[in-house]
Amino acid sequence: MVKVNGIAVSLLAFLQGIEAINAFASTLQRVKDSITNKEYTRDELKIGIAGFYDRSSKLWEDVWGEHMHHGYYIPENRTDHVQAQVDLIDEVLKWGDVKSAKSAVDVGCGIGGSSRHIARKYNCKTQGITLSPYQANRGNELAKEQGLEDQSSFQVADALDMPFDDNSFDLVWSLESGEHMPDKKKFVEELFRVAAPGGRILVVTWVTRDLQEGETGLTKKEEKLLRKINRAYYLPRWVSTQDYVTVFKEQGATDIRTEDWSYIIAPFWKAVIKSSLNLKSVIGLFKSGFSTIRGAYAMLLMLKGYKMGLIKFGLITCTKPE
Ligand SMILES: C[S@@+](CC[C@H](N)C(=O)[O-])C[C@H]1O[C@@H](n2cnc3c(N)ncnc32)[C@H](O)[C@@H]1O
Repeated sequence: MVKVNGIAVSLLAFLQGIEAINAFASTLQRVKDSITNKEYTRDELKIGIAGFYDRSSKLWEDVWGEHMHHGYYIPENRTDHVQAQVDLIDEVLKWGDVKSAKSAVDVGCGIGGSSRHIARKYNCKTQGITLSPYQANRGNELAKEQGLEDQSSFQVADALDMPFDDNSFDLVWSLESGEHMPDKKKFVEELFRVAAPGGRILVVTWVTRDLQEGETGLTKKEEKLLRKINRAYYLPRWVSTQDYVTVFKEQGATDIRTEDWSYIIAPFWKAVIKSSLNLKSVIGLFKSGFSTIRGAYAMLLMLKGYKMGLIKFGLITCTKPE
């Protein structure tokens, strides 16, 4: 009996040893992938995005509030950054010529700042989707706190496979989530599918500069910078505004328009960096863990990308024909 137990204990110790070696090896692999800025697989992206926003959204909300996107900086020297974020939503809607909406979908909704703003502005229903359970839950909590629980709801779902019927929404809204999508064609197909005939689609997203005549790709230096940003923010390969236009055209979209608002949002990252240089933010940063710290460092890389003219803040809008 003792001997049998003895063997069982040794076996257990052996299995635990193997498990520890495996865990160590996978940590080493992750460190190596980070150092070499290896591209994420689709599965790694999905899990990584959910975890990144689960861990960092509370800190962002504590420091910046409910909007997780750039602000609108006209005039350039404005200092009320939260108002600048709200204004960005209004200015994008104005640019997209959205005068009313009955039902809107917020694809990649964060904690739902845009959804609730749109619900109030047009007195309409909104549904938001995110990969992060924390964000969906917080979005619903805030809707309740703001008396919007009958208008705005949030759930965990994948933008590449949305849980909505065809032709459901007259406003399809995606603000700074497109850059996370590993399959832009599928992303656009889904946006188009859930849009109602005559409905308006608005995508605001990080893109690269369009290629010049004679260029076949970005430079090595540009690609290297993007790989570092991708690692920090869980992004796949980047595309340009023109790439989006091509896939929207393939869908049969009409009234396609694009614009580069990089100059309008330019002061934003400097403001974020400044806001993170206080004790509360720094403590929050360390509490949120490695990926949030790396995300904070990547803000400098984003600034560099904008300055190089590599990264653009792109707007794309179109209509689904009747
Ligand atoms: C930078 S946040 C923007 C949040 C929000 N649009 C805002 O402006 O406040 C990016 C959002 O995209 C979501 N996202 C990324 N990939 C997604 C996917 N495949 N399906 C659904 N949501 C996704 C993330 O979960 C996160 O909520």
